[in-house]
This record gives sequence, structure tokens and C-alpha cells, in this order.
Amino acid sequence: MTATTTAPGRAVAPATGRTVAGRVLTGDRPTGGLHLGHYFGTLANRVRLQRQGCELFVVVADYQVVTDRDRPVDLPELRTAMVLDYLACGIDPDASTIFAHSAVPALNQLLLPFLSLVSTGELDRNPTVKEEIRTAGRSSVSALMLTYPVHQAADILFCKAELVPVGKDQLPHLELTRAIARRFNERYGPVFGLPEELLGATGTLLGLDGRKMSKSLGNGIALSDSPDQVAAKVRAARTDSERRISYAPDIRPEVATLLTLAGLCLGEDPAAVAERIGTAGAAELKRVVIDAVNGLLAPIRARRAGLGRADAEAILRRGADRAREIADQTLAEVNAAMRMG
Ligand code: TRP
Repeated sequence: MTATTTAPGRAVAPATGRTVAGRVLTGDRPTGGLHLGHYFGTLANRVRLQRQGCELFVVVADYQVVTDRDRPVDLPELRTAMVLDYLACGIDPDASTIFAHSAVPALNQLLLPFLSLVSTGELDRNPTVKEEIRTAGRSSVSALMLTYPVHQAADILFCKAELVPVGKDQLPHLELTRAIARRFNERYGPVFGLPEELLGATGTLLGLDGRKMSKSLGNGIALSDSPDQVAAKVRAARTDSERRISYAPDIRPEVATLLTLAGLCLGEDPAAVAERIGTAGAAELKRVVIDAVNGLLAPIRARRAGLGRADAEAILRRGADRAREIADQTLAEVNAAMRMG
């Protein structure tokens, strides 16, 4: 059910062959700065879909931040930092709705009926949540951690999104969202459509240490990194001592990770990048990667330079007003279908 895109046209869902020009929803957990994994996984797709005329909703998933925290976090600061990342990437706040799900009560209320449609076993088996629990390395797991994929279904279904641009790690949550929509419709009558995912250019862009690029692992390049920070991170990445650079992910994973990164930034095949570097060795490879990343980030940095926290706060307020209107309506439909009202 993975949707693909046909440049330069609209997004097409191959399962149905139908053109998807309607609502697109996606979002992120505001844990402090988006990185290149987010950019290639979903941000680039969002900007493209917006340019194609889709109605874009972007949720700043602030409740997801507290899934594994045992101390208060500065959520207002994290939310505005994320909005600034979005704007820097080219998401247009006039053409899209950017909001925090905590600011939309009716969206959160959808969680309750949705929880009744999911079994605890299903939640226990979610591979992405299992991985997050492992990475967090904590002795106990909060109930919010286990149930956040259901909350994420509310993020998606409150506005009846048709398409959800995400990275590969979010596929289990999309499956669950479709299951919830299907079960709700079967039990109470047709209210929800079945949203489809739109995967980014790369499944998972690895971090500079070869593990999944992740904020918590500190192995990523943030969209807000300065040119010098990018250079320092890339220089510190591991490579090998072979002079000839080749793209061989199985044998030379460290070199392949750098080639993939350069290839994505340049819009080229990683093998072609390797070919160009030839026998110039790891130092040249790193120079190419640094230039490629900084080239991609230059316009993003330029857009960010003109923006401040007050801009982000105003955008979130405006987005919440619009999201509340839609969420109230969906909740009213849900309540009517369930004969709650
Ligand atoms: N869980 C997603 C992530 O970690 C963020 C997210 C929250 C999301 N709500 C969403 C993604 C709704 C897509 C749709 O990246």
C-alpha cells in the first residue's frame, strides 16, 4: 500500500491507481532539532506535495515527547524550534496547517474510542515501539509509550488524511491506523477512509556511526548545524584505509553511509559519487560529503536566519485554531456514530 510519486505530477497510490490530491498529514516528535534523516525521510516530500497543491497538515507531536521522560521538558521551546525547522525547509505556513496536538482537545479525545479497538497484545508487538523501548534502556515502560501509536492514529484520522509522508520506521503505526479506521467503520458505520503512507527517497538514512540516524543517539546532522559543525561531524566519522572509494554497503558500511549521504544531498547515485572520487581516498570522500551537505543546507540556513520564536508561536496558534475546527467536527461524527451524544 506504499504510495509512490510520479515526477512532476501528483502523488499516486499504486494500490488504487488514484491520484491523491487531497489531505496530507504528517508530523514529528519535537525532541530538539530535526536532522537529515527527517529531511530525506519526509520533509522533502512534504514540501513537494505542498507545491503540488495538496492540503498539508503538520503535527508537532508534543505528547510523544513525554513517552520516555521522567522530568519536565521545555515543550514550548521544543515546539517553536521544530516550527522554525519546518519553515526553514520551505513549508509554507499560509498553505499548510502546523499545530501541536496538545492544543487540539477533540483530537486527543479520539484516543479513547480508538483504544477500545486495539488489543494490548497488538501494542506489545509493535516493532518500532519495541525498538524505542530498547534504545531508551529504561527499567520500566510508560503506558503512554505503548499507546502512542494509537494517539498517532488520532493525529492522522482527525483530519481524515489520505496520504502520510513518513520514514520506514513509521509503517507499523500506519498499519495500526488503518486497522483502527477499518474496525471503527465496521463497528459503528463508515466515518474514516484508509490513509496510505508515502515513503521518502530513502528508507532509513544511517547516522554517521552506522546506526539509525537519531537525535537520541547523537549521530545525526541537524538541519540547524553550522557549516563547521557539519565538517567536524563528517571528519569524525569512521572510514577505512583503502584508497579506492567504492559503494559496497555489505563490505564497507562506513564508506557506504557517507556515499549515501552525499548522493542524497547531490541527487546522485552513491556509486556514481564513488566513481568520481576514485582513488582519492577517505579524506576526499569526506570533503565531498561536507560540501554536499553544506550545499543542501545553505538555503535552509538562509530561510531560518530571518525567522524568530514569535513567528513560530503565531503560526502554531493559527494552526491550532484550524485544527480544532476540523477535530471538533470529526469528534462530533464519531460521537454520533457511537451514539454517544
Ligand atoms: N512518530 C512520528 C515520529 O517519531 C511522529 C508523528 C506523530 C507522526 N504523529 C504523526 C508521523 C502522525 C506521521 C503522522 O517521527
